[in-house]
Amino acid sequence: MTDQHFDLIVIGGGPAGYGAALYGASAGLNIALVERDKVGGTCLHRGCIPAKELLETAAVVRTVRHAGDFGVVVEPKTINWGTTLERMQAVIDKLAGGVTMLLKGRKVTIFNGTGTLGADKTVTVAGGAGETATLTADAVFLASGSVPRTIPGFEPDGSTVVTSDEFFRIPQVPANSVVIGGGAIGCEFASTLADLGSNVTILEALPKILPLCDEDVTRVVLQAFKKKGITVRTGVKVAGHTPNPEGTTVNVEEGDAVATNLVVVSVGRSAYTDGLLADGTKVVVGERGFIEVDEMYHTAEEGVWALGDAINTPQLAHVGFAEAICAVKDLLGESPSPVDNDRVPWAIYCHPEVAFAGHSESSAKEAGHDVVVSKHRFAGNSRAMILGETDGLVKIIAEKDEDGSAGRILGVHMVGPWVTEQLSGGYLAVNWEATVDEVAEFIQPHPSLTELFGESVLAMTGRSLHG
Ligand code: NAI
Repeated sequence: MTDQHFDLIVIGGGPAGYGAALYGASAGLNIALVERDKVGGTCLHRGCIPAKELLETAAVVRTVRHAGDFGVVVEPKTINWGTTLERMQAVIDKLAGGVTMLLKGRKVTIFNGTGTLGADKTVTVAGGAGETATLTADAVFLASGSVPRTIPGFEPDGSTVVTSDEFFRIPQVPANSVVIGGGAIGCEFASTLADLGSNVTILEALPKILPLCDEDVTRVVLQAFKKKGITVRTGVKVAGHTPNPEGTTVNVEEGDAVATNLVVVSVGRSAYTDGLLADGTKVVVGERGFIEVDEMYHTAEEGVWALGDAINTPQLAHVGFAEAICAVKDLLGESPSPVDNDRVPWAIYCHPEVAFAGHSESSAKEAGHDVVVSKHRFAGNSRAMILGETDGLVKIIAEKDEDGSAGRILGVHMVGPWVTEQLSGGYLAVNWEATVDEVAEFIQPHPSLTELFGESVLAMTGRSLHG
């Protein structure tokens, strides 16, 4: 039994939790980090990193497929799935080792086990490889994360029906796959599977996939998915499945059933708070399962904050990092501004990639803005032509000034090659509340993909170069 007192105890070692520990330690706080599994959380072990790693294998397959266009003749390709998974795991292990080293370097004490918050900011740690401990602190951050949602009739079995928790261990690329849910996770998995040669069907309950994206962006993704052979069925209600020796058949209300070898369920994620709270804390878990917080991540108990996927904010690793920085600054009495959830950067790594910040055209109009819109396609961009990746566009939504000209930039939406790496200029413009005239003065390198963002803004001034 260990009894220790810390400035801050963080429960949960995902991006929000380890981010808070690293940032807090860099500010001089004495920190305990409690993690029941592996430091790195969903993002590193079962989410962002393995998903993007496999998407890169898909990108290599595409490159090889188009090598002939560049005059490079290659042997017919085959995928050694074992090597693919080994590479994915090697990247995860290297990053996990790096995070652990950083934490240790900053003298963060890591406790392995389930952390449970009791009265008076006491945290018990139990069930891990180490001994049971009772810890106290001046402050506690709850960053216990989330788990995949499932739907009745589609309980994961780890082989035919999987969620993102099991997807990264599938033994082979299936000949046929069904992806239930066309959000970020569903589109990334569908894109990966299709590029790897699987025959993919997306079944989405809503009238469109990628519900948060601008309509023009979704249209480009849909066209590209069609070219890959992905069937997208929207407005579909799934009604259980009937297993067979090769896999299963997914039943659909009012429509054709789909025979498949693999079903990937990607219908959102729920906050994970099992075992987190004992009697005696005032922390409230709301009806939808999220820990309730105010705009500075304070729970109902003084000295206890909650962050990351366990609260009802965008479930993105980088939002977790930002919340961690805010909460640490708040703890230190530095009066930070909270994260503006309507203007965080979104990055979806399917092919073609999607990235955006701020209002889409329809959400800007719904919010009562009179808007000017500029759209430019990668088809005319020199770097995109060189890459052979010309599907996609940049769309800028700006406030219409009284004289009819484009003023403040409200949203930047991109779809196409490497747009997840190109959003930062647009993100800055939206969050700096910059105007079109201001941003149009900035130079973009030539030839580059980011020129399209520059051209799109320049065109909104009423004059242009190529746009
Ligand atoms: P999501 O909420 O983004 O999308 C789930 C989709 O499933 C929705 O379109 C929903 O209408 C649909 N759906 C729900 N129930 C259904 C049913 N019974 N049948 C058919 N469709 C159904 O959730 P997702 O994609 O699972 O991602 C979880 C979280 O992780 C999200 O907040 C997402 O933004 C985040 N994430 C972000 C990534 C990124 O930005 N690159 C990557 C992975 C996850």
